Amino acid sequence: MYKKILEILLEKNDYVSGEELGKLLNISRSAVWKNINKLRENGYEIDSVTKKGYKILNNNDILNEAEIKSAIKNKSFIKKIYYYDQVDSTNNELKHILSENTEEGIIVVSDIQTSGRGRLGRTWVSPKQTGIYISLSLTPNIMPFECSSLTLVAALAVSNALKNVCNVPASIKWPNDILINNKKVCGILTEMSAEIDKLNYIIIGTGINVSTEFFDEELNKTATSIFLETNKKFERKKIISEFLFEFEKYYNKFCEENGFSEILEEYKQNCITLNKKVKVLCKESFLGTAVGVTEKGELIVKLMDGEERVVSSGEVSIR
Ligand code: BTN
Repeated sequence: MYKKILEILLEKNDYVSGEELGKLLNISRSAVWKNINKLRENGYEIDSVTKKGYKILNNNDILNEAEIKSAIKNKSFIKKIYYYDQVDSTNNELKHILSENTEEGIIVVSDIQTSGRGRLGRTWVSPKQTGIYISLSLTPNIMPFECSSLTLVAALAVSNALKNVCNVPASIKWPNDILINNKKVCGILTEMSAEIDKLNYIIIGTGINVSTEFFDEELNKTATSIFLETNKKFERKKIISEFLFEFEKYYNKFCEENGFSEILEEYKQNCITLNKKVKVLCKESFLGTAVGVTEKGELIVKLMDGEERVVSSGEVSIR
């Protein structure tokens, strides 16, 4: 019942009387009061004023289904929200959900990940309350080999969301790391289920360090958080909502028009790797200068002897 009260209070964003809440939910005023106290116990600051009723003053960055639902602007794109206090990995959980019913626009969000996964088999450190761990399902009408560029679409969406909500100088390190002042604030793990010529679904898993105050010594060299860059705490739901809004905007362009080429110019403007000396880490690593991004989202690297190589995946470090 307290979830329903929460939904109403979030929706109205103003005082709602105990009588009105009671009527809407067909419960007594004392039951309303008990549930309001339950919300308070869960961290909500709720003002109560005689004759006016109850109003949420502060949610202390609590995440739950009602909070996410009320924050999302593009409600028709996000069909289902699954929120968990703890999962092993939101990508794993979404995979599980999609194995029963493949549908676009499902999101899985968790407050903690116990086995958050990064690219290339790495771990994504996912502590409680400080980060965004979100996975989104997509079923675009494209071939499996075209999927990798969607990861670049997601990177552009995160970088815009962080600029819009937190006013930070976010940029993209090809293909899909988001950096602030040369340190990583967000990583994206894109996974898919497909047959050779048929895509079943794609999962875009995004991890953003929002209010992390400390990283261990090793991570501290390369990672940052929005808090460490701004000294301000931002509500995770606002960033989630802006990310999903920006993502849909670019995703529609990607699906309805010419795939990634529609977004290429904007991606390039935000890509910090371009015009930098880079080291491409693969079987036979090589050095060069990143000179462009192709219409498929691949990185063009020019070697010292003038040869240009196209890199479609892997690790690229900026020198
Ligand atoms: C990277 O290595 O840069 C990618 C990190 C991706 C982390 C996110 S957090 C949400 C989703 N669930 C996971 O287990 N991983 C991704």
